[in-house]
Amino acid sequence: MKRTLGVCYYPEHWPEDQWATDAAQMVATGLTWVRIGEFAWARMEPSPGTFTWDWLDRAIAVLGEAGLKIILGTPTATPPRWMVDKYPDMLAVDAQGQPRKFGSRRHYDFSHLGYREECRRIARLMGERYGSNPHIAAWQIDNEYDCHNTTLSYSDAVRQGFQDWLAQKYQSTDALNRAWGNVFWSMDYDTFDQIDLPNLTVTEPNHPHQLAFRRYSSDQVVAFNKVQVDELRKHTDAPLIHNYMGRITTFDHWKVGADLDIASWDSYPIGFLSDRLEGTPEFKRAFLRQGHPDNQAFHHDLYRAVGKGRMWVMEQQPGPVNWAPYNPAPLPGMARLWTWEAFAHGAETVCYFRWRQAPFAQEQMHAGLLRPDSAPAPALAEARQVADEIETLASVGTAKAQAALVFDYESAWGWDAQPQGADFEMFRLAFAAYCALRRAGLNIDILPPDTADLSAYKLVMAPGIMSLSEPLRAALVRFEGIALIGPRSDTKTDELSIPTPLGPNLPGLDVSVALTESMPPDDGIALEGGGQFLHWFEHLEGKAETFVATQAGQPAIMGSKNLRYLAGWPDDRTFDQIVAGLCDALGMETRQLPEGLRLRDTETHRFYFNYAAVPLTWEGVTIPPAGVHWEEL
Ligand code: GAL
Repeated sequence: MKRTLGVCYYPEHWPEDQWATDAAQMVATGLTWVRIGEFAWARMEPSPGTFTWDWLDRAIAVLGEAGLKIILGTPTATPPRWMVDKYPDMLAVDAQGQPRKFGSRRHYDFSHLGYREECRRIARLMGERYGSNPHIAAWQIDNEYDCHNTTLSYSDAVRQGFQDWLAQKYQSTDALNRAWGNVFWSMDYDTFDQIDLPNLTVTEPNHPHQLAFRRYSSDQVVAFNKVQVDELRKHTDAPLIHNYMGRITTFDHWKVGADLDIASWDSYPIGFLSDRLEGTPEFKRAFLRQGHPDNQAFHHDLYRAVGKGRMWVMEQQPGPVNWAPYNPAPLPGMARLWTWEAFAHGAETVCYFRWRQAPFAQEQMHAGLLRPDSAPAPALAEARQVADEIETLASVGTAKAQAALVFDYESAWGWDAQPQGADFEMFRLAFAAYCALRRAGLNIDILPPDTADLSAYKLVMAPGIMSLSEPLRAALVRFEGIALIGPRSDTKTDELSIPTPLGPNLPGLDVSVALTESMPPDDGIALEGGGQFLHWFEHLEGKAETFVATQAGQPAIMGSKNLRYLAGWPDDRTFDQIVAGLCDALGMETRQLPEGLRLRDTETHRFYFNYAAVPLTWEGVTIPPAGVHWEEL
């Protein structure tokens, strides 16, 4: 498949006589797609029931006639001010009970059914008006669910919805009391309407109460999205897309993704490194202007799976952003590198955010492809270069992987409710495992927790999966490669209590977790032969073979030929050794890539990405800083 480029554009931000020039310049840059509309509700419907579609009609015509394909966004992330007057209780409420007010964006509560109907209405009206417009080639629904922490709300609408959801799920408060263990501290309920949200309690709320709240909250995102999907499907065959974010685990992306055609995500490598990824100061300094060398790949692989094979980058950072604590400019070449890396991981399209830097409002310090004065910003030439390069590579093929990592959102909620150690977090653990696989030069697929067939893979890792689904349990039992599960895998019931017999309960793996320890960041458990566990250590018992032990002689990895349990959270170097050992046992080739160099195979090519700020030489090829190199396989 030939890859394509696009850009995010806001015609409502610019005088109309500039649209045609902008469109022509987009085409001249080699862009195929333009995304519009996702924040323009107040310009579409300035007062309730009064519509001003004419400008949007004209914008679509100008852009489309210039030869661009349009991604039209539903504007439901930015309800106009009148909407809040109409439904003052549509605002989300934070955990302290304060409303999250109008004046920025995403000021809505997923549980507010009145607002949900308004979203159905605007999606229907847009579908009716533009569903068969030949220029509209894709739709984006809403914008970045959960951005600015907006999945969880503690409003009256949520309390009501949660109580109904609980009544449906448990049928009786007796069943709920039993499932949650409410006998502990006399927490039993007699009726569902007594059950409050799990905030503002004296000490921690009961874990299954929190988990139920997280499941409920995720379901509201799925339902909110589905309402718009159902409306748009009546009017269009164009693909429906949502733009997810990085490191967001508050809703089940697998479930939202099931209703959509393509999963896209918004990639801000430098913002993410400074704002939401762990790393030593030296590491962050080394990648200050490039981003974490594995973070983009992780999300490409995750969303390729969420999109059932179809993935885009809907927003690609082109220069400094405005929202991280510090906002350095990318090294020259990074916009190109990020784009090619996305393509190598299967992205069909990469759209840059945004066309021209806005001289006004919250994001005026956020770079675009053009400066506010319309002069080219540095990324414009890089986009042009990629567009030219795409022409020389007819296809980069579909990616294949021998290694897989299972990723589960419910486990993330479970561990948020019950971290047990201050730094135990699902994303962080899964990402650590992913990075180790990738530092070994492997292609990786990320799999949903109900995966029923692992036969395409040699090596599977499933760390931190709270409670294995039955399909996955069966697939693991049949697996002929090596599966490494743990730490903290299959150690809870799906109500977050401890199963008896103690987990994991995987036929063929005679191992159970007898005791769990968490440790402060600097206190490790040393392993025999070098390396250590950090954060987390489980004392294992059982008859299975011990493959690795701690210096104190306790099992660190235990299991059988095919199924093994990892008792702790290895530091990076130890994770590398573990992956290398497993690959060795499987006859899989691994590499010890220099820091900053990453590679990815497609069906036809091997791509090298130099995330380092210095040139790197590998197998006779020298790749400049921020450089990309590819060769045919
Ligand atoms: C994204 C968002 C865009 C823009 C961008 C700035 O999170 O979808 O609308 O705000 O960040 O980096």
